[in-house]
Amino acid sequence: MTDHPHTPKTARVQSPARRASNAKSDIVAAAGFSEFPLDRVHRLIEPGPVIMVSTSRGGRPNLMTNGFNMSVVHDPPILALVVGPWDYSYDALRETRECVIAIPSIDLATRVVDVGNVSGRDVDKWKRFGFTPLPAITVAPPLVGECFANIECRVADDRLVADYNLWLLEATRVWLAESKRGLGEFHHRGDGTFSANGETIDMKRRMTKWQALVED
Ligand SMILES: Cc1cc2nc3c(=O)[nH]c(=O)nc-3n(C[C@H](O)[C@H](O)[C@H](O)COP(=O)(O)O)c2cc1C
Repeated sequence: MTDHPHTPKTARVQSPARRASNAKSDIVAAAGFSEFPLDRVHRLIEPGPVIMVSTSRGGRPNLMTNGFNMSVVHDPPILALVVGPWDYSYDALRETRECVIAIPSIDLATRVVDVGNVSGRDVDKWKRFGFTPLPAITVAPPLVGECFANIECRVADDRLVADYNLWLLEATRVWLAESKRGLGEFHHRGDGTFSANGETIDMKRRMTKWQALVED
């Protein structure tokens, strides 16, 4: 039987590859999955906690909010951050090659999100949002007094910046104030919603291959 002349070509002719792909999609759909938009995949792979990056350029300190970050190497302690050229902090990082990563607890969330919605090009965010600078030892940018952890960092490798805005940083000094940890860090779900830490599940005994990691 021939197709009606108005039938779209794609509906009439299906390549073997397309037929195989459709058959696979059917199997996956039958298992309860539907396709998720590629440009939203970051909402599923939740990276590190929401942090603030403290920089200082020409003696002028600044803060930005960052959600795309992760640990990369244990020893030496290398961390990775995405900081793009749309941020004033990018120029500071490029020029000075140092920063402080400050980790806020969830009770600072509204101020921290506000920090990520204005630029240091236009405002002094330290003053506007009421954060307290404390001196760092190994770098010029200040620690953030209100955050429960502050990590002094130097740029260790910028080879991935041109392609991915990905900065590899080596931690040079770390400060922890348990008394400021409160309910702990919080996480960006990639769509303007945030999650708090849930219940802690202790599986240290199952980490048989990784005992060095679970020791205090
Ligand atoms: C929750 C949140 C997460 C963000 N994560 C990132 C990030 O991972 N990388 C980035 O370059 N900008 C990120 N931003 C945007 C910057 O914080 C924003 O562009 C900020 O205004 C930059 O400040 P600056 O121009 O003073 O450097 C984030 C903003 C928010 C609110």
